[in-house]
Amino acid sequence: MKVAVIGTGYVGLVAGVCFADMGNRVVCVDTNAATVEKLRAGRSPIYEPGIEELLRRNIAAGRLTVTTQAREALDGTEAAFICVGTPPRDSDGEPDLSLVYGAAKDIANAMTGPLTVVVKSTVPVGTGDAVEEIIRRTRPDMSFSVASNPEFLREGSALADFQSPDRIVFGVEDAKAEETLRKLYLPLRATGAPQIVTRRRTSELIKYAANAFLATKISFINEMADLCEKVEGDVTELAAAVGLDSRIGGAFLRAGPGYGGSCFPKDTCALLHTAQEYGVPLRVVEGTVAANNARKHRMAQKVIEAAGGSVIGMKIAVLGLTFKPDTDDMRDAPSIPLIRHLQRAGAEIAAYDPQGLRQARDRLGNVAFHGDPYECAADADVVVLMTEWNELRSLDLGRLHRIMRTPVMVDLRNIYPPELARRFGFRLVNIGRPGPRGTVHQLPPALVASPPIQSDAAPILVK
Ligand code: UDX
Repeated sequence: MKVAVIGTGYVGLVAGVCFADMGNRVVCVDTNAATVEKLRAGRSPIYEPGIEELLRRNIAAGRLTVTTQAREALDGTEAAFICVGTPPRDSDGEPDLSLVYGAAKDIANAMTGPLTVVVKSTVPVGTGDAVEEIIRRTRPDMSFSVASNPEFLREGSALADFQSPDRIVFGVEDAKAEETLRKLYLPLRATGAPQIVTRRRTSELIKYAANAFLATKISFINEMADLCEKVEGDVTELAAAVGLDSRIGGAFLRAGPGYGGSCFPKDTCALLHTAQEYGVPLRVVEGTVAANNARKHRMAQKVIEAAGGSVIGMKIAVLGLTFKPDTDDMRDAPSIPLIRHLQRAGAEIAAYDPQGLRQARDRLGNVAFHGDPYECAADADVVVLMTEWNELRSLDLGRLHRIMRTPVMVDLRNIYPPELARRFGFRLVNIGRPGPRGTVHQLPPALVASPPIQSDAAPILVK
C-alpha cells in the first residue's frame, strides 16, 4: 500500500519507518527542509534506540522516501496519516491544533483520488469531525474518510511499542476506513494484538483515558510513598505486593519525582479541559494533576532537608535530567522545576545527563553542565539522582563518595538499595523507603493521642 505520513516527529517517524518495514511504500512529509535532508541522509532528528537502523534500511530498500512536498506524498496514496505535534498553547495550556488543521488542508489540496485520512496525533474529542469538515470544504469533489488511530508508544521503546502493541485502536465512521486500516495493520495480526474497532470520538478519548489512568497510578504510588516515609513502610515492597493483584497490575507503580514528558502532563490537562467543556467533573484526574504539580516542589524541599535545612552556597550535583531514561527529551522534565527551586534557594547547580544536555541548555540557565557524572559530582555537597539511566544505576559508589565534599545522596528513583548506599558511607534520602533497621520507631500518632487503655479494653495489637 502507498502511505503518506505527515510530520516526522516521534509519532510520525516511528509510524513511517515501521509501516515501511512492514512492506509498504511510505512517503514522509515534513515542512522543515533541514529535517528532510537529515532524514534522507539516514539520520534521525529524535533520539530513539534503533530508529536510524530502520530508517536507513528502508530508505536503502526504496520503501521510504522523505519530502517537503505533500503533493509528492499524496499522489496515488490510499492512506494519509496526520502525525504532527499538538503542543500546549502558551496562553492556556490547551493543545494547539493549528498543525493538525494545516495538515488536513495540505492533504485536501494535494489528494488525487479516494483517500482515508488517519489522525494519529493525540487530539481532543471532536478533532476528527473538524478535520473532516476542512477536507470536505476544500475538496467537495473528493471521496474520503477520516479515521482516528491513536498511538500508545513510549519514548525509548517506541519501535517495540509500535511493532508489538498491547492493542490497536481504529476509530472509524465508515466501512472503507476500517478496511484500509485493517489491511495496513494486517502484518501485526501475528503479534496477537487485539484490534478494537470503535467510533472516532471514542477512539480519540481512549488515548486520553489510558494516559490519565497511567498518570493516576503514578500519583497514587507517589502519595503512598509519602505515607510510607511517615509510617516507616517501604513503598517498593508495598508496590510489589499491591501490583501482584491481577486487577491492579505491577506496571507504573514506581514511586519517583513525579511524571513528566511530552504526554502525561499535557494529556491530563487536555482531558480536564474537555471534561470542563462538557460539564463533567473528573475529580480523580484533577487530584492526579494537583498531586504531580505539588510533588515537583516537594522534591526540591526534600533535597534542602537532606542538606540540613539550607542549600545556600552549596554545590548540588543533579545526575540525570531527562524525564525518563533512553530519551533526550526534556519536555516537562521534573528536573527543571527542581533545579529552579534549588537555585532560588541559593544553591549552585552542576548537572549531567547522557543524552539530554543539548535540550537542557536551552531550558536552564546558570547551570554548570558536565559530560561526565564524576566530574559533575566532584566537591558536591549533595548528589541528586533524577533519572534512572543504566549508566547511573551502576555508578562507582566508592569513587563518588571520595570525590564529594559531603556524601549526601538524594535518590529520587530508588536506584540504590539503602543498605548498599549506606555501606559506602552515604547519608541517603530516597522515596518512601525506611531508614536502617534498628532505628527507633515512633508510636503512630493515633496511639499517642488515644486515651490510656483500660485493663478490660480489647488489646491493641502493635507489630
Ligand atoms: C507515555 C505513555 O506511556 C505512552 O503510552 C503514550 O503514548 C505517551 O506517554 P512516555 O511519555 O514516553 O509515554 O513515557 P512513560 O514511560 O510512560 O513515562 C512517563 C513518565 O512517568 C516519566 O516521567 C516516568 O519517569 C514516569 N513514571 C513512569 C513514573 O514515575 N513511575 C512509573 O512507574 C512509570
